[in-house]
Amino acid sequence: MRASVDRAGLDSGRTPVIKIRRVRKGDLSKVRDVIEQAFGDFYERQLGTRPRQVFGGAQYVHHRWLMEPWGCFVAEEGDGKIVGAAVAVIWGTLGLVGPVAVLTIYQNQDIGQQLVKAAQGFFDENKVTLQGLATYPSSPKHLLLFQKFGYKPKALLAITSKPLDRREIVQATQAGKPAVSIRRFSTLEEAKKKGTMQKLRRITNAIYRGLDLAKEVEIVDGLALGDTLLLERGRELIGFAIYHVPGVSEAPQGSLYVKFLAMDFRHRKPEHFHGLLASLEELASGAGLQRVIAPVYTAYWTAYQALLERGYSIDFTMVRMKRGKLEEYERPADLVLDDWR
Ligand SMILES: CC(C)(COP(=O)(O)OP(=O)(O)OC[C@H]1O[C@@H](n2cnc3c(N)ncnc32)[C@H](O)[C@@H]1OP(=O)(O)O)[C@@H](O)C(=O)NCCC(=O)NCCS
Repeated sequence: MRASVDRAGLDSGRTPVIKIRRVRKGDLSKVRDVIEQAFGDFYERQLGTRPRQVFGGAQYVHHRWLMEPWGCFVAEEGDGKIVGAAVAVIWGTLGLVGPVAVLTIYQNQDIGQQLVKAAQGFFDENKVTLQGLATYPSSPKHLLLFQKFGYKPKALLAITSKPLDRREIVQATQAGKPAVSIRRFSTLEEAKKKGTMQKLRRITNAIYRGLDLAKEVEIVDGLALGDTLLLERGRELIGFAIYHVPGVSEAPQGSLYVKFLAMDFRHRKPEHFHGLLASLEELASGAGLQRVIAPVYTAYWTAYQALLERGYSIDFTMVRMKRGKLEEYERPADLVLDDWR
């Protein structure tokens, strides 16, 4: 890896006049291009080679805009050229910003900060109690940029994955017939979905007060980006996992991606966690995918260790940054996978 000094764009000699405005439908493919170009250049500067596909085929713009149109911003030059973008979402009381990107030749001219400021405004309007993001711990620029807004670096996010072995999955399924059952949210009757959403909220509210993933569940269901697995004992919901499969989702090619997983804190037994993961692996294998990607915040120590024991390995790490009153809310024994990217 090259030195992490990242001052691209500084010598372009331009002082662009920039307007920050909300994303419109007609901007979406341009926004995607800008994000992919900026990240592609960043990876190339960091790693010395440009990835063939910037996020391995994962996409972040279209569905997030549909889910949270007021949280998506562009930086536009006087002539209407889009030179930067920021996407923010709100999970109840938690506001998450990212991706944020500025075209390389426009960097270091305050545009990134204007975009982050716009996201802050959106969070303030919605009275979130905690704000967060995931960024690159080895980049002074990234850390300092967000520190300016009061974000503090916390623990690492480990992006883990496991290649799938078909035989192992068949054996795992046959070995233990659990006392719990698994259903997919998409198979519920419309009338039942609302009640299930309340149960999901109860689980997330116990993790962080007001945390609410309903929008993520709905968008995954509405656009068939993947599904939400429900782990149940009788009528009781004891855990769930929102996952994406490749297409126009956040899942890279060939991978099932776990966006969010949480176990009711009263049922945080490792076997339930493993049960949900086994089901995700089985689903991925059945869909002909080669691996499962499961990002984990390392402060959730039990979940992190359980993934490693299960054969997941760390592909790369990022650092979580937070701003708010209750910054250290994570209990190490909570079985949670929550990707803030
Ligand atoms: C991160 C990114 C969005 C920042 O956008 P930007 O327009 O360059 O940011 P700004 O110019 O508003 O602010 C950058 C600040 O970092 C400072 N900076 C730049 N290089 C630095 C370095 N090596 N060390 C410390 N500070 C640095 C700049 O001087 C500036 O601060 P200042 O206004 O006090 O001088 C942009 O670099 C980008 O798109 N990168 C690629 C994609 C990416 O990594 N996105 C973020 C993922 S979390």
